Amino acid sequence: PTRVRMVVGNWKMHGSLALCREMVPAMASIAQPDTALVLCPPAPYLGEVARLAANTDVQCCAQNVADAHSGALTGEWSAGMLADLGCRYAIVGHSERRRHYHETDHMIAAKAQACLEAGITPIVCVGESWVQHQTGQTEVVLQHQLGTLLALPDWRRLIIAYEPVWAIGTGVAAQPDTVEAAHRYIRGRFATRDPIAGNSMTVLYGGSVNAENAMQLFALPDVDGALVGSASLQSDALMQIYTAA
Ligand code: G3H
Repeated sequence: PTRVRMVVGNWKMHGSLALCREMVPAMASIAQPDTALVLCPPAPYLGEVARLAANTDVQCCAQNVADAHSGALTGEWSAGMLADLGCRYAIVGHSERRRHYHETDHMIAAKAQACLEAGITPIVCVGESWVQHQTGQTEVVLQHQLGTLLALPDWRRLIIAYEPVWAIGTGVAAQPDTVEAAHRYIRGRFATRDPIAGNSMTVLYGGSVNAENAMQLFALPDVDGALVGSASLQSDALMQIYTAA
């Protein structure tokens, strides 16, 4: 793999069909092939976003995916179904999934594996809580979260999103030195296994990225882009963030 510059907009459980129809053409008008522009609408809108984004430089991404390819699993959808729609990515293991839906590192690794088998690139989220941050446990937490991922045979194809839980939705992003240190640590974990692959991994930052702080974050050497939440619901803000990348 090679490091990909990317801006990923995660709408979480917000938006509408109208927003899909406003946002995709707006983003398509500025998207460039050298920096990925990825939209993650809620699942019911994935088909519409994939359809609108076809033949543009906008990419479609799911916010979640099952760990199995098919089965009697009411309410779930598989990575193969995402590929069928033309989606290229899926977010896996977002902290909101870990917290509210009790996803474990083991489940998250299984979802990432299901994605890789179906040709979907998983964007796997990792990051520490405020208490863990305050007590200096960030690297231990990251080591643990990355451990199950490193056991996947195809770990080189993962995208990692570092999202300190305490910076999500707060309006206050982590400080640049904190972000760079975490990204360097994450890259280093992969690099101990394979230096070339580790340095080629795409590592995104997420947590209160906005039009004001994006440029400073993107200038950090180990930051390849952003996973944007609330600012991704406004086309102006997302355009400014994308332009900063
Ligand atoms: O997936 C996105 C992140 O959770 C960041 O959300 O930009 O609203 O802080 P936020």
